[in-house]
Amino acid sequence: MAPKKINNSPFRYPGGKFYARKLILESIPKHEKYCEVFAGGASIFFAKSSVSQNVLNDLDFELVNCYRIIKDNVEDLIYLLNGIPATKELHSYYKNEYQPTNNLERAFRYYYLNRTSYSGIMKTANCYFGYGDKYSMRPENWPNHLRTCSEKLSNAKLECLDFEELLYDLEEDFFLFIDPPYFNADQDKFYNCMFSKEDHYRLARTLKKLNNKFKFLITYDDCDEIREIYSWCNDILNKEWNYTIARTDDQKRNLKLSDGHIGKREKGKEIFITNYLQTEVEGLKQEKYYSDNMNQPLLTF
Ligand SMILES: C[S@@+](CC[C@H](N)C(=O)[O-])C[C@H]1O[C@@H](n2cnc3c(N)ncnc32)[C@H](O)[C@@H]1O
Repeated sequence: MAPKKINNSPFRYPGGKFYARKLILESIPKHEKYCEVFAGGASIFFAKSSVSQNVLNDLDFELVNCYRIIKDNVEDLIYLLNGIPATKELHSYYKNEYQPTNNLERAFRYYYLNRTSYSGIMKTANCYFGYGDKYSMRPENWPNHLRTCSEKLSNAKLECLDFEELLYDLEEDFFLFIDPPYFNADQDKFYNCMFSKEDHYRLARTLKKLNNKFKFLITYDDCDEIREIYSWCNDILNKEWNYTIARTDDQKRNLKLSDGHIGKREKGKEIFITNYLQTEVEGLKQEKYYSDNMNQPLLTF
């Protein structure tokens, strides 16, 4: 079987699943309806083949508005971005002074700040300039990438709901990819929407109630509380993957790894929780994926 091309999200996203994409894709059973409940950068949706129904949901209105504009109005967004360089001064201007007057301008501001901020962090208090010519996508490449994303989004439904409302609204037989904020991490630093401990328990209760309606894969940080509240699921698997973090100071010091990359090697570690057995996905494991930049360092500076 010919390898499938993996596409990239339009966004840089904290907690994004960029480096775990292959592992996740290989753990998903065959499905005709696909939903990302906590979409964020939706790196799995962009990496996988589309199916007959595709739903992306996130509670962050600014993010979903930007997806909607990329989907329905991409040329107007590209027109606004045309010729605007990635600079610290403009980042500060769009973050602190610019007042968007409509949803297109809001999407323009969101996209510009996301592409030029450290790790794509959009939470206002932690949204700092972090663009570097060597490791960030250059502004001249934004338009074509946006057009590719727009095409991919053309058959996706975009929702901006709390996960519980979404899960009750969805018809049955969707495959759900569920990537909530970590249980033990200071997520308030990264995301505009708060996710409390009670929200984690509410998610587990909702999924248990709807267990027969959907198949799902949840990714989480490994801890006793999460293992306990999902003990009714079929599989809880330990997963690990490698990635490289490049930072501006590594770039300045020209700190090179043996493979020629500038940056620091890290290990991603999570648990994958499923309400189906891995034997159901055996067939799909034969599928191979490739990407133009699968081995590039994570863009975090
Ligand atoms: C870990 S991120 C998802 C990352 C994503 N899988 C990726 O690859 O980029 C978690 C997301 O959950 C969203 N979120 C927080 N609370 C939510 C809620 N109650 N319902 C739906 N989404 C929520 C946040 O806005 C954030 O985008």
